[in-house]
Amino acid sequence: MLSWDEFDKDEGEEAAKGATATQSTAAGIDKLDNAGGVAALEARAVTADDSEAVKRAKAALDKLDIAEGLAELEGSAARVAVDEKRMINCRADLNQLVPFKYDWAWQKYLDGCANHWMPQEVNMTADIALWKSQEGLTDDERRIVMRNLGFFSTADSLVANNLALAVYRLITNPECRQYILRQAFEEAIHTHAYQYCIESLGMDEGEIFNMYHEIPSVAKKAAWGLSYTRAISDPEFNTGTVETDKELLRNLIAYYCVLEGIFFYCGFTQILSMGRRNKMTGVAEQFQYILRDESMHLNFGIDVINQIKIENPHLWDAEMKEEASQMILQGTQLEIEYARDTMPRGVLGMNAAMMEDYLKFIANRRLSQIGLKEEYPGTTNPFPWMSEIMDLKKEKNFFETRVIEYQTGGALSWD
Ligand SMILES: [Fe+2]
Ligand SMILES: [Fe+2]
Repeated sequence: MLSWDEFDKDEGEEAAKGATATQSTAAGIDKLDNAGGVAALEARAVTADDSEAVKRAKAALDKLDIAEGLAELEGSAARVAVDEKRMINCRADLNQLVPFKYDWAWQKYLDGCANHWMPQEVNMTADIALWKSQEGLTDDERRIVMRNLGFFSTADSLVANNLALAVYRLITNPECRQYILRQAFEEAIHTHAYQYCIESLGMDEGEIFNMYHEIPSVAKKAAWGLSYTRAISDPEFNTGTVETDKELLRNLIAYYCVLEGIFFYCGFTQILSMGRRNKMTGVAEQFQYILRDESMHLNFGIDVINQIKIENPHLWDAEMKEEASQMILQGTQLEIEYARDTMPRGVLGMNAAMMEDYLKFIANRRLSQIGLKEEYPGTTNPFPWMSEIMDLKKEKNFFETRVIEYQTGGALSWD
């Protein structure tokens, strides 16, 4: 197991190793060829029992170039010193985790694994009975459950696609990539959770999954997110110029600060409020686990954005700050519209006006987390119980304070 005690201990030694690495790699490949050569050739010799297909497989392996593969694996600098690691535009390290540069990323990976959960572990019996009974829920409460399952099942897929098809390739640091892989799996678990709820409750799957192009407030949020994926998911897109680096930064702000940091919050509050009133407790428990994961995704993203700013201060100019601030304000506005749409009347002890205050409170926090001015002065949190559920200790990110307290699995409590 990798330990923090080892972190940056052998930095000097690693740098020295890096300098001689190209030479030793070439020698290593020769040794591989010599040591494995005879035995491998014997094993690969075509025998009378071999079918045509097996013969073709063996012949194809004769053409495999080990040197080419290893060179690609090790990048241009072979073993990398910690100072050479960078968040973006670092061509040197493909898979070398240690020495860590961003220990917070590895810690979040470990914390994410410690919080592992699966949707089937949640008992849905009470939810099924309540959903099927005629007078179990009001129409307004039913609308909240349906709209949120519709929005979230689309949104989590957008986030997963953005990570796998765009962000993973462009973040050039292995400890961050390790967390991104964990996050991508968690997004798959979230998609699984919505599917599990929809199936358990016997909902019309077509209606839920098509909501993003039928309900305007859902469609707008999805379209807004997608507009920031378009450029960077092009396989031809690469960072390395001011404009393309800014494009990646815009994507990270759109997805981590707005999609995962604002667009989920009206829905989380509505569903968790239901759970606190002892309604749809299985769905609410799923959402509570999801919220715990999302708090970590959000804080990882904030750390990545702030680290990119530190390493590339020229990107964070007045124009970029204004753009980032506008993105967060646009996202807040779209979420306020979603709140009105999902809550035409007061329901579950809240209403759209309270939600608007809450979203402005959240937006102020997102702005200040990436070093921008708060735009909704004097806003207070009308739902303090949400912070308690999230556990604000986990809402902290590396640049505010080190996260110290995490728990493994364990039952969630509504207190
Ligand atoms: Fe998610
Ligand atoms: Fe997420």
